[in-house]
Amino acid sequence: MNLHYGMDINEKGHLTISGCDTVDLARQYGTPLYVIDEDFLRLNCRKFKSAMEKYFKNGRVMYASKALNTKAILKIVDSEGLGIDTVSGGELYTALETGISPKKLELHGNSKTKDEIEMAVKNDIYCIIADGFDELTMIEEVCQELSKPINVSIRLRPNIDVHAHHAVQTAKMDCKFGFGVIDGQAIKAAEIINNSKWMNLHGIHCHIGSQIFSEDPFKELCRHFVDFACDVREKLGAVIKEFNCGGGFGVRYTEADEPKQFEAFIKLISESLTTLCSERDYPLPLVSIEPGRSIIGETGTTLYTVNGMKEITDIRTYCMCDGGMFENVRTALYDAKYTAYCASKMNEKHDRFVSIAGKCCESGDMITWDTPMPHSLARGDILAVLTTGAYNYSMASNYNRNTVPALILVNNGKSSLAIKRQSYEYITANDLLPEYLK
Ligand code: LLP
Repeated sequence: MNLHYGMDINEKGHLTISGCDTVDLARQYGTPLYVIDEDFLRLNCRKFKSAMEKYFKNGRVMYASKALNTKAILKIVDSEGLGIDTVSGGELYTALETGISPKKLELHGNSKTKDEIEMAVKNDIYCIIADGFDELTMIEEVCQELSKPINVSIRLRPNIDVHAHHAVQTAKMDCKFGFGVIDGQAIKAAEIINNSKWMNLHGIHCHIGSQIFSEDPFKELCRHFVDFACDVREKLGAVIKEFNCGGGFGVRYTEADEPKQFEAFIKLISESLTTLCSERDYPLPLVSIEPGRSIIGETGTTLYTVNGMKEITDIRTYCMCDGGMFENVRTALYDAKYTAYCASKMNEKHDRFVSIAGKCCESGDMITWDTPMPHSLARGDILAVLTTGAYNYSMASNYNRNTVPALILVNNGKSSLAIKRQSYEYITANDLLPEYLK
């Protein structure tokens, strides 16, 4: 068995996370249940922070909160000294409501609304990462209306190919994000910002993709950053103050994944940028990264109750759980793979292959295919699916009018509710019956 940090098996043969018996947690809070190991989360924050401090005089970690954005998580990440990257009004609002200093917040997004830009400018956030020409016009308008300036960074699309699922490649030529470098759009954007009364030309940004294991694309990214910054210096006489390298560092979902230590990526980025900048006599600016999955992913586990088994003779056995694509859409969407255990029978040999199905009305609604489970797996057992901290709760929906599960924090034998389970009343709260239908 390949258990994550903080996991163990107790004398009852149950999986424990940070000293909490997962079968007890399932009983206490109900299932499906998202469980986040707080200690593990803090450890990951510290690893990134200390690596940035080790390799850069001026480095910064911005947690990509799209991976999991909720008040309790933001509070923990903030208390570890990280900044927060947001990508929507909702994420930004949550961060502001949590009391995070606006100076630690940045706003992303390829289709920002005027309201979102207004929220950012009004609250004096640290930086907006601009993604298109119309957005630059909107930022200028908003700043003028509010008589407030704002730092603006440029999201670059330098045409970098990474070996990741096509849905999470974000810096290729044909992709909706950022300003093209090769076709001259990015330098045009820099010129517009530089000439603006309200926008401060702040930095350049590029997020190349997600679940990346190789260092090579980051090397390529560094070269593009320095080339572009030199171009800006030469053509506009302006100096770029921040290189933001995005996130994308891979994590372990199954034994087939062999993630590097985060530090290896940061070391490489530091070495590449230092060499390239000194070759071109460019002052090394503030360097930031935006890890999401690699901070929160492995710290999360989802617990399910088995509702029943279905044997399809000579084909496969399905295990029906009480979750599904409404709380984890990644298998249906990306053919994602997960490691699963029978949390209530950890000491039994896991050597019978079953496929864990969700409860939504779609054949593709699967949590994971053909995964080893005990022979005795049966109704009432508790399942644990690992590495569900990132992009599970944050991509949840009410499909089939299922309720989004609760999320708890566990820490050293204690558990606390961080998101309440939705109720049926919550789901119908916004439904209205127009007069004529009553
Ligand atoms: N920065 C930017 C601008 C991003 O767009 C992203 C992710 C990140 C940082 C963080 O990337 P991470 O370190 O988490 O890989 N729903 C997909 C992932 C989409 C990622 C989108 N952007 C999934 O479940 O795999």
